[in-house]
Amino acid sequence: MRTVVVYESLTGTTRVVARALAGVAWSFGEVALLSVDDCSPSTLVGVDLVLVGGPTHARGATWATTERMARARLGERFGPAVDRHDECPGIHRWFDEIGQVDGIRAAAFDTRLEGAGVVTGRASLGIARKLRAIGFVEVAAPRSFLVDGDGHLCEGQRIRAEEWAESVIGVLARAQVG
Ligand SMILES: Cc1cc2nc3c(=O)[nH]c(=O)nc-3n(C[C@H](O)[C@H](O)[C@H](O)COP(=O)(O)O)c2cc1C
Repeated sequence: MRTVVVYESLTGTTRVVARALAGVAWSFGEVALLSVDDCSPSTLVGVDLVLVGGPTHARGATWATTERMARARLGERFGPAVDRHDECPGIHRWFDEIGQVDGIRAAAFDTRLEGAGVVTGRASLGIARKLRAIGFVEVAAPRSFLVDGDGHLCEGQRIRAEEWAESVIGVLARAQVG
């Protein structure tokens, strides 16, 4: 089983979730954990499953303007550390770069604030829509992982992430064996 976990993360929270997913994927076979700026189309050749996630910004996936807002917030908190993110291409630009794919299995995830998804928005819904539009086959419903007002993952969310990965990857892995 070969899995790629690709994520965008401006302030680090989605990366924590992505790492938890990759940890589970590792127990089923090969895994690559890549940020959107490191995941080129060639990285997806021969892959069985791609898990794609990012933060919810302005009720959807990030855009250049919301990235800039997030970076500005980082700048306020951490000063020069913001430079690290200057070339982060953003998930929309990643989709543009990937182009069309041929039936690779995929599922979308996001991080978002606690509360009803209809109020906060869920980036994973838009990510899943885009995945389907460019030829991925969606194998699980989009999943959100929740953060508090300080941007930290809420209690139990890492375990939820592991359970989600276990269910998505486990079903596919067992189908391959059987
Ligand atoms: C500019 C900006 C806009 C945001 N907009 C929303 C939003 O509309 N809905 C929501 O649930 N969370 C929103 N958030 C919170 C982020 O989704 C949340 O903190 C997320 O976990 C950040 O992920 P990251 O640390 O991987 O960048 C926003 C955060 C920022 C910085």
